[in-house]
Amino acid sequence: MTRLLPSFLVLSTAVLHAVAQTQYLLGLGIADITGPVVETNMMGYASLPQTDSGLHQRQRARAFIVGETGAASATTRVVYVNADIAMGDTGIRRAILAQLATKYGGLYTAQNVAIGSTHQHSGVGGYLENLLPQLTALGFVKQTYDAIVTGVVLAIDRAHNSLAPGTLSLGNATVTGGNINRSPTAYLANPAAERALYDNPRDGGDQDKVMSLLSFGNRGFLSWFPVHGTSIYENNTLVSSDNKGMAAYLYEASVEPNAMPGNQTFVAGFAQANVGDTSPNILGAFCESPGQPYDGQPCQANTSTCGGTVEDCHGRGPAFTLDPYGFHSNEVIAQVQVDAAKGLVNGGKLGGVSGSVRSVHVYLDMANHTFTLPNGTVAKTCPAAMGFSFAGGTTDGPGSFDFVQGDNSTSQNPLWDIVKSVITPIPSAEQVACQFPKPILLNTGYATFPYAWSPSTVDIQMLKVGNLVILVIPGELTTMAGRRLRNAVRTQLIAKGIIDSSAYVVVAGPANTYGHYITTREEYAIQRYEGASTIFGPSTLDAYIEKYSSLVPFLADSPTGTPASDAAPPELQSSALSLQTGVVFDAAPIGKSFGQVLIDVAKTAYKAGDTVSAQFVGANPRNNLRLEGTFLSVDHLAGSVWTPVRSDSHPSTIYQWTRASTILGTSNVNISWTIEPNTPAGTYRLRYFGDSKPLIGSISAFTGTSGNFTIA
Ligand SMILES: *[C@@H]1O[C@H](CO)[C@@H](O)[C@H](O)[C@H]1NC(C)=O
Ligand SMILES: *[C@@H]1O[C@H](CO)[C@@H](O)[C@H](O)[C@H]1NC(C)=O
Ligand SMILES: *[C@@H]1O[C@H](CO)[C@@H](O)[C@H](O)[C@H]1NC(C)=O
Ligand SMILES: *[C@@H]1O[C@H](CO)[C@@H](O)[C@H](O)[C@H]1NC(C)=O
Ligand SMILES: *[C@@H]1O[C@H](CO)[C@@H](O)[C@H](O)[C@H]1NC(C)=O
Ligand SMILES: *[C@@H]1O[C@H](CO)[C@@H](O)[C@H](O)[C@H]1NC(C)=O
Ligand SMILES: *[C@@H]1O[C@H](CO)[C@@H](O)[C@H](O)[C@H]1NC(C)=O
Ligand SMILES: *[C@@H]1O[C@H](CO)[C@@H](O)[C@H](O)[C@H]1NC(C)=O
Ligand SMILES: *[C@@H]1O[C@H](CO)[C@@H](O)[C@H](O)[C@H]1NC(C)=O
Repeated sequence: MTRLLPSFLVLSTAVLHAVAQTQYLLGLGIADITGPVVETNMMGYASLPQTDSGLHQRQRARAFIVGETGAASATTRVVYVNADIAMGDTGIRRAILAQLATKYGGLYTAQNVAIGSTHQHSGVGGYLENLLPQLTALGFVKQTYDAIVTGVVLAIDRAHNSLAPGTLSLGNATVTGGNINRSPTAYLANPAAERALYDNPRDGGDQDKVMSLLSFGNRGFLSWFPVHGTSIYENNTLVSSDNKGMAAYLYEASVEPNAMPGNQTFVAGFAQANVGDTSPNILGAFCESPGQPYDGQPCQANTSTCGGTVEDCHGRGPAFTLDPYGFHSNEVIAQVQVDAAKGLVNGGKLGGVSGSVRSVHVYLDMANHTFTLPNGTVAKTCPAAMGFSFAGGTTDGPGSFDFVQGDNSTSQNPLWDIVKSVITPIPSAEQVACQFPKPILLNTGYATFPYAWSPSTVDIQMLKVGNLVILVIPGELTTMAGRRLRNAVRTQLIAKGIIDSSAYVVVAGPANTYGHYITTREEYAIQRYEGASTIFGPSTLDAYIEKYSSLVPFLADSPTGTPASDAAPPELQSSALSLQTGVVFDAAPIGKSFGQVLIDVAKTAYKAGDTVSAQFVGANPRNNLRLEGTFLSVDHLAGSVWTPVRSDSHPSTIYQWTRASTILGTSNVNISWTIEPNTPAGTYRLRYFGDSKPLIGSISAFTGTSGNFTIA
């Protein structure tokens, strides 16, 4: 009861602010960032067998620019990019900033541009700069990296070109059935008095249940809600965008139903928040152990094991019985976020946003950062290290990084064969003490062969948009870690007079650099996956709290001086290993041609709910990513004109590629469409757009067309 009164008062403050809304310059843009959809490892689960084989939904970057009206200046303008990727990365950020510097001079810089991620786990991999996340991708994949860099810059260009005056509004809503805590036993290690503060349905106990939303009026919005992008399971090999990308598609399609995905003008941003210990697999984790007495039972709670091992313990999404890969659960988790956002955008209860636009950014070397805790004790962070539980993975994806499971069962990964001879150096007594109580499995902070395995230097950044402050985080904060950081910064914002009591703070990430996880000191002591992956030791969170808090004065309307920064991290791209081979050549079987129909649509008449499919003589889609385009269309006959009504990014269509013969260079492409309810009756056909590479000569485009069929 005592908590109701203050929150009622804050709500009335928000309404007051609606009266004094500041005019800003607003820009929104969207672009395609989908890398090679076949023969490439996927990013998130770090599972070697998870090599992509086709496309479910394209990955997009969505850019949001807010500036003060008046002369254009980096000081008074901020850019937040929400990219459909697993995590931000130092290398792509560096390349994006370099292109922006060339195009825009000093307008978009390291200080005011944040590259955030949705933390999805079904996108294309190989783009990260450090070695550890490259291992399962067989090193660096330049095609993925280029697709992300080019697409993010295009999204920012489009946002920039759309800049127009407007106002912003802000608020939040409770999302039910959107997430659970996947490490509740670690959360319980936090002090009881602290946990009690959040022990109510609105705050969600061991999970943040609140979605915060910044509305750009009828042009779009940017929202934050913590839930892992692991609705689609590790055994799926179709490139997709998981629940945040699906939510964005569903929202944008509901506003402009006739626009192709990615071609809408309304931009829906579903960004990630303190995601560390969240899971979309809200039914909990169960043993998938056929023949064992514990088959179908909940996993052992503290260790997430079944019969002593992690492999069989799997989280279940809300619709887990409907398909084996989590696609239906993905739509449910997307829809609850869409519903919450719609309620906020259309509910008329958002508060106004007013005040200056500012940003601050520094680099921080976390390998040995010494600072003072609030109680006066001097603390330090440590060079990076992964604990044993890191190898166990999580209930969303057991046993990450195949190379640590079992002693030598990993020789199927040729990149591991190259680097295992110099397996991470044995930790010194100093490192063991610094990381205590973490048992060190991979001493990555000391592993520099062939180049750094983990980052040491991370980006610390805050964007201020009126009374909203976005903490851009280089990692995955757990629920309680995020609350502590938000509270500490908000207290400073008010104490230093930067913002009045309307100060509203959100965390966003993993963004800019991937510094892995960030737990509280108490959760760290439990050493579940999140604690084992808190790479800079037990003081990691406290170091971030101290750093972000100390930078608050630089968000003032007229700040004095510039903050001290460590050196930027070294460039690693040019020395990156890459074992992925290029496309050698494509060929059609003798007597056939590219795009020729091998298996036509099965019937001439279909109805809603049916799946129609056709198989074509294919070529490797790595020859041309068809960014901003499509590998397929469903065409509708209107009069005598065929009009494309579905692209490869509609979730109702699937593009699949299979190699028929490596020696002959032949491959097949399957295209399928599951016909949605309310699809207009008429005549339709499927088309396939491919690009083939001859042994000698240049790549050329071709088209395949199925037979006609009707929908009643
Ligand atoms: C939600 O908004 C209310 C009113 O502004 C605020 O008091 C509360 O702290 C917000 N919740 C979160 C988690 O930010
Ligand atoms: C499981 O974790 C809880 C909370 O951290 C702890 O109280 C309990 O003793 C643990 N149980 C076992 C069997 O380790
Ligand atoms: C995208 O939208 C524009 C403007 O509405 C339209 O001209 C264009 O044809 C659309 N492109 C696709 C691929 O649908
Ligand atoms: C994929 O993984 C999920 C989760 O572990 C499992 O339930 C499902 O049976 C698997 N699907 C297939 C086809 O193996
Ligand atoms: C870490 O920093 C402290 C104090 O700045 C210094 O005494 C110590 O030698 C450093 N340790 C390493 C491993 O660099
Ligand atoms: C200060 O806090 C740290 C971290 O919680 C703790 O380890 C240390 O003992 C505390 N120091 C004092 C003097 O209370
Ligand atoms: C794996 O280890 C076992 C026991 O240490 C050894 O006998 C075997 O030869 C090893 N296999 C490979 C492929 O290295
Ligand atoms: C492609 O379609 C054919 C015919 O329906 C089917 O036999 C085959 O299994 C499909 N391939 C894939 C990869 O789904
Ligand atoms: C499909 O329909 C179009 C338009 O009516 C027609 O020109 C074409 O011949 C049809 N194709 C087949 C294979 O029947």
